[in-house]
Amino acid sequence: MKAKKLIEVAMPIKEISAESQRDKSIRRGHISTLHLWWARRPLPACRAVIFSSLVPDPLDENCPKAFKDAVNELLMHLPQYKPYKDIPYTAAFDPMEDNQRHRLMMFIGKFSDKCQHNMLHGITTPPAEQIDDSSLVKWENKDNKEIIDRAQKLIWVAYNSEKRPEKEFEQLSIEFEDAKRKIEECEEILYSIPNRHQDSITVKEAKDALKAAISSFQSNMPMVFDPFAGGGAIPLEAARLGCRSYGNDINPVAHIIEKGSVEYPQKYGKKAILERNEFDSIYGELGWSILAEGALSLDQKYVTIDNLLAFDVEYCAKRIIQDVEFETRTLYDIQDGKRPSVYYWMRFCQCDNCRKQIPLFRQLYLSKPRSNKNQQRIKHFEYHVVNGELVISLENGDTKMSANVNRGNVSCPYCGGITDIESLKKQFNNKKITEAPIAYIYDNPDGKVFKQVDYREFSGLSELAKVEEESIPHEKLSPNSAGGDVLGWGFLRWGQLFNPRQLRVLLCFAEHIHNSLPSVPGDDEYRKSIKTYLAILLDRLAVRMTSLGKWHYLQDTVEHLYGRQAIQMNYDYPELDPFSTISSSAIGQLDSIINYILEESRSPFYSTVNNCSSGDKSLFAENEVYATITDPPYYDAIAYADISDFFYVWLKRAIGADYPIVFSTPQTPKVEECTALKHHHNNSEVEARKHFEDKLTQIFDAIEVQTSDIVSIMFAHQSTEAWTTLCNSILKARMNITGSWPFDTEVSVALKADKGYLESSVTVSCRPSERIGYGDYKEVKSAISRKVRDEVESLYSLGFRGADLLTACFGQAVSEFGKYKFVEKADGSEVQVSDLLEMARLSAFNALVQGVQGDDFTRFYIGWLQMNGMGETDFDDATKFTRVGMPVDVSEIFSRRLLIREGKKQHLATASEHLGNSTSLGTHIDDSLIDQVHRAMLAYEKGDRHILLTLLHNVGADDQSSPFWRLVASLRELLPDGKDLKSIEGLLGNSDNLRQESREVDQHQPEQMTLDFGNDFNSDFK
Ligand SMILES: C[S@@+](CC[C@H](N)C(=O)[O-])C[C@H]1O[C@@H](n2cnc3c(N)ncnc32)[C@H](O)[C@@H]1O
Repeated sequence: MKAKKLIEVAMPIKEISAESQRDKSIRRGHISTLHLWWARRPLPACRAVIFSSLVPDPLDENCPKAFKDAVNELLMHLPQYKPYKDIPYTAAFDPMEDNQRHRLMMFIGKFSDKCQHNMLHGITTPPAEQIDDSSLVKWENKDNKEIIDRAQKLIWVAYNSEKRPEKEFEQLSIEFEDAKRKIEECEEILYSIPNRHQDSITVKEAKDALKAAISSFQSNMPMVFDPFAGGGAIPLEAARLGCRSYGNDINPVAHIIEKGSVEYPQKYGKKAILERNEFDSIYGELGWSILAEGALSLDQKYVTIDNLLAFDVEYCAKRIIQDVEFETRTLYDIQDGKRPSVYYWMRFCQCDNCRKQIPLFRQLYLSKPRSNKNQQRIKHFEYHVVNGELVISLENGDTKMSANVNRGNVSCPYCGGITDIESLKKQFNNKKITEAPIAYIYDNPDGKVFKQVDYREFSGLSELAKVEEESIPHEKLSPNSAGGDVLGWGFLRWGQLFNPRQLRVLLCFAEHIHNSLPSVPGDDEYRKSIKTYLAILLDRLAVRMTSLGKWHYLQDTVEHLYGRQAIQMNYDYPELDPFSTISSSAIGQLDSIINYILEESRSPFYSTVNNCSSGDKSLFAENEVYATITDPPYYDAIAYADISDFFYVWLKRAIGADYPIVFSTPQTPKVEECTALKHHHNNSEVEARKHFEDKLTQIFDAIEVQTSDIVSIMFAHQSTEAWTTLCNSILKARMNITGSWPFDTEVSVALKADKGYLESSVTVSCRPSERIGYGDYKEVKSAISRKVRDEVESLYSLGFRGADLLTACFGQAVSEFGKYKFVEKADGSEVQVSDLLEMARLSAFNALVQGVQGDDFTRFYIGWLQMNGMGETDFDDATKFTRVGMPVDVSEIFSRRLLIREGKKQHLATASEHLGNSTSLGTHIDDSLIDQVHRAMLAYEKGDRHILLTLLHNVGADDQSSPFWRLVASLRELLPDGKDLKSIEGLLGNSDNLRQESREVDQHQPEQMTLDFGNDFNSDFK
């Protein structure tokens, strides 16, 4: 029997979540900065999930000895991987045992010493300092040879000791070192050959030798496959860990992004040495200028280019930018010898009442930088009717004036009449809307300069900006049933999203990329890779050069079209001059591409990516893949194919001929996409959902056949419905869930609201499983409750609490259920996945309350808090929970005000809701513990020192190990931010003093004093 993988047993979820949240803010060289793709998984989560899916749990009795030895040798003696002395995210003192499993977890992710200290003292740590420098998941370690080699060696030993159990660790370790060294030697030889672009026998032999060395190394590493590869995060991390990495996505745009992110940099981003003359004849003056900028080494005879791919992309892109700039030079205004970087356009409609042309201001600020509150620096528009004419002016400072468009209804500055949204839409549809610039923005070295422009003087874009009808992208937009779209506003074809000048420039770029093979040496495949980046550059520009783009007035930047996963209607827009110096310009976009190539070129391992609908059983042989690790779409959350058509039409024009099969369809394939978008399914929601569930099952079914070991699925949602769909598809595909973990990731920052919010996702591991006939409901139920109880116990000791604990238990519950083909209730009906999840929830609740010390009401309160937090739940939940192994009656729970009922909903009572008007509840030793703690919280909050000390004295809370203080510690871990948590933190922070003084309290002293705790915890409550 094989050992369980680490992911089936334990994961450092808090640490992975912390680094995953940080990942969203990393810009330079990050995969997300190469090309927009929606719902990317954070790299730390991908790296952790891949690694822990490939290594066994060293404490498993079936774990190969060689792997245990590897952990001993590689991790046990290193102090940086020593488990926590006290788990920092729990309130209790809970040292982590120093064993091999915990060492492996600490290797994946560990909080830094500073962060541990801060967490224990309630202090926040800056994101970059939270995770220890030696953790595998830390962003900075993606190229850290020591750490990545250690991870690769652990995977190597795990994989090979499973295949060849007779091998000792030492032997496997030597084989690993040899194979790795061979690659390095071959790389050194190949990349040091002068003029290696010229075909010669030496070059060919060196190339073949490197290929053989890589293949020999990788034949001893597991094959990892991602059938929903999207932007490529999972294949990227699998290749980084040395695995044979494969990815597939149905979407051609995703495929091109994957080529540029997980294949070309690793394949071609290497050193090259050229003779000076050769360099000069290929690259000429422009080449020398790039070389000078990049501080590349230059000696007498040879020129060394550190990263040939990055260099060639920069060279070719700059040539194209120069050419396009020259061809379109007459389209842009030059004012006082300067070109504006941004033209700020306003659209005008006709007032339904007075028929005058009126502007469409949804908000009035042009610039209001977060960092500069100086009123001179703040710019806003005003609009007034002066002598019967509308004047738009640009003013300094804040404004009290209101914009004239509200929810699409426009008020007229001339007559005050309202043109409603329907009429406005009609005008857009009938092409009655006009537009003109109202400001120019210049990008000066000392900051942006904003200049008012009189819209009345605008006489239309020059004739030169006219575009040949046949070259305009006339492909149609699809409705986006996933959310807001612009079809209703008359934007029906992709070409309509651009003004004529934007179209001219973008078409000119596309034409140049299409027509000219890059004038650099290399084989066809290499030159195609360069064209691919040029097309990515075109996409990056196109998405910033539409007439529906946004100006971010808080940070003075041009934002791309897809701030959300849909195109939103916009009336004013910034038109970027792509040849200016502003950061969004062509050179700025090129920088992002170059930075990505430079960041991801160091590894010799690239991924193989494919472009078709997944679920094809012939893609791999049976059991050929060792681990499938993936992140499927979720119902209609994102309409990938529909929204990516924006890019498809540009990519097709630029590089369609280079990828004839990928771009063979008029637009991206829609029918086979695994989503639930009703407009693709006869406008029927039922059909759409069925399609999604069937497709997911079909793809999992193929995976089950092709995968020999483990399948790990990252799912971006944690709702009960998402769980049910996921479990159903997994079980229908003859697999069983063996582990489940929640991760938090920071997602989209709303442009206007300027806020980020946390999204929680779940990762489940599964394995192909044999079903053992029929299960009896009663037996399965008690097996689940046993399993969940054991799981709660072991995860609790690892610091898992609340909803995290519950998610981790779900996997165990499903694994018990999934053993059977069919589980039958007493009435003969089949148990459904939704029944099962309910069962798991109740078992977890039961296990949780068993572990809580104190009376039944206290246990109920803590159990409920763990399960549901302070949020609202359905009314019948309370009845269900009180039935689970607790002798409390639901009516008592309500009459004691532990749960507060509001209509058909209920929520857990806060301290003040619970105690209500009572002044005595919780003051007596016989009262429920939760009553006592709530009373203490209220006394603390009000600053009633005497009452508090007397209370502690009376209820026997003058000892640290008393149930009272343990309950306070549990509440500290479970309560969400708010008043109650502040009180609990205040009590805990002062607990030593309080205990000391409560022992000395004179109960006969009647005076009430103000609390003086020597800190400001209770100041918020005054
Ligand atoms: C959640 S995204 C994956 C994101 C990816 N993990 C990343 O980090 O960028 C899901 C992907 O599944 C792809 N997809 C949808 N239906 C598919 C199908 N039938 N076959 C293959 N890929 C599909 C979508 O195009 C999308 O890129």
